[in-house]
Amino acid sequence: MNKCLICFSPIEPFMSFGKMPIANGFLSPAQFSSEYFFELKVGFCPNCKMVQLTEQVDRERMFHESYAFFSSTSKRMAEHFKGFAQFIMSNYLKSPDPFVVEMGSNDGIMLQHFANVGIRHLGIEPSANVAKVAIQKGIKTVSNFFDEDLAHKIVAEHGQVDAFLGANVMCHIPYIHSVVAGIKILLKQDGVLAFEDPYLGDIVEKTSYDQIYDEHAFYFSLNSISYLFEQHDLEIFDIIPQGVHGGSMRYLISHKGARKVSDVVAAQRAKEEVLGLHRLETYDRLRRNIECSRDELMATLCDLKKQKKRVVGYGATSKSTTVINYCGITPDLVEFISDTTPIKQGKFSPRAHIPIRPYQDFTEDYPDYALLFAWNHGDEIMEKEEKFKKAGGKWIVYVPKVQVLE
Ligand code: SAH
Ligand code: TYD
Repeated sequence: MNKCLICFSPIEPFMSFGKMPIANGFLSPAQFSSEYFFELKVGFCPNCKMVQLTEQVDRERMFHESYAFFSSTSKRMAEHFKGFAQFIMSNYLKSPDPFVVEMGSNDGIMLQHFANVGIRHLGIEPSANVAKVAIQKGIKTVSNFFDEDLAHKIVAEHGQVDAFLGANVMCHIPYIHSVVAGIKILLKQDGVLAFEDPYLGDIVEKTSYDQIYDEHAFYFSLNSISYLFEQHDLEIFDIIPQGVHGGSMRYLISHKGARKVSDVVAAQRAKEEVLGLHRLETYDRLRRNIECSRDELMATLCDLKKQKKRVVGYGATSKSTTVINYCGITPDLVEFISDTTPIKQGKFSPRAHIPIRPYQDFTEDYPDYALLFAWNHGDEIMEKEEKFKKAGGKWIVYVPKVQVLE
């Protein structure tokens, strides 16, 4: 029986996606025979309400010196993180020589804004290749996994922090109690923890099941996150919904009682009750919606194949690994996937082994249809791809529902 990673009660598995590879594990043919698989299964904890994976992949298999995700590939995300940095600078860095730590700082997309104005900072980024890009930009970064032990070392060397930041990383860490204990040690008495992750409410409402993959150990709601931080005497004092990654939530957290709790927090709790995020039936319904989404997407792709249409994938996202392998999309349905990230080009998608090709291969010979795997960057992409539409190209999307955009 699986135990909850937060409160150690038995959890209720509600969906298995079957055998899955590493979501960011783009590979060369020489690596096909040694590809790693695990069962991707999600469960709900009836006690603390945390939605989580039931089986964890070792962190070194996912985050290493050849990590394929570089944050700075999206212009909109670059703007978003500039805004996040400015928000922290204007509101929470009031001391004479403030110090900011970010975990999962990747290629420095957010931390560069602190470095550029001379604010003391430190990035914690275990994937050495992306950390190296940040270091080359002059951003102080250590290549390590953040946890309680590392927090002790940081305090001893640099002192406590005014702000501890994280984006799309807190939900990646199954040993989250050690991370939160570390943050508690690091935070000054009036220090702030600000982090954001994809929001469970959006996943449920939009059936965006492709957020479920090996790296995402947790799917946070305000309710479940509050339970976790209460265990460590920390308190959520504000939340700010974000449009990025298909709907995210930014949580602002302090030592208990250190700051006034915004009314928005209680209002969001009430919304979560209405959405039913605290009830198992909601996740049974989510499973049924996921199954329908799969059937509709496969019917669309098979129909296009019969019509001899060319379909190409757009964006070799880690999310696409779940969709491709759960639905059973093969290279005869999707010819290749276009992606702007050099490390992914020339490789093959995890498990299904669909070729990943440079962006030029898309623009130089437009397909009839483009399957939008990077749907979370949809606005940015549609704006950029006016010519594809003018040439008669059509988009296939599957969030919030399967649709061919006319
Ligand atoms: N913050 C960036 C990157 C998100 S991807 C953005 O939002 O675009 C998640 C990142 O977290 C990866 O770069 C991964 O190497 C890093 N990571 C994973 N486990 C970590 C840990 N324990 N401590 C710090 N970073 C971690
Ligand atoms: P993203 O959706 O940000 O993340 P994840 O891997 O966590 O699902 O990944 C976007 C991918 O799409 C990334 O590999 C870069 C690629 N991409 C393009 O090829 N063109 C674009 O215009 C954009 C915005 C992204």
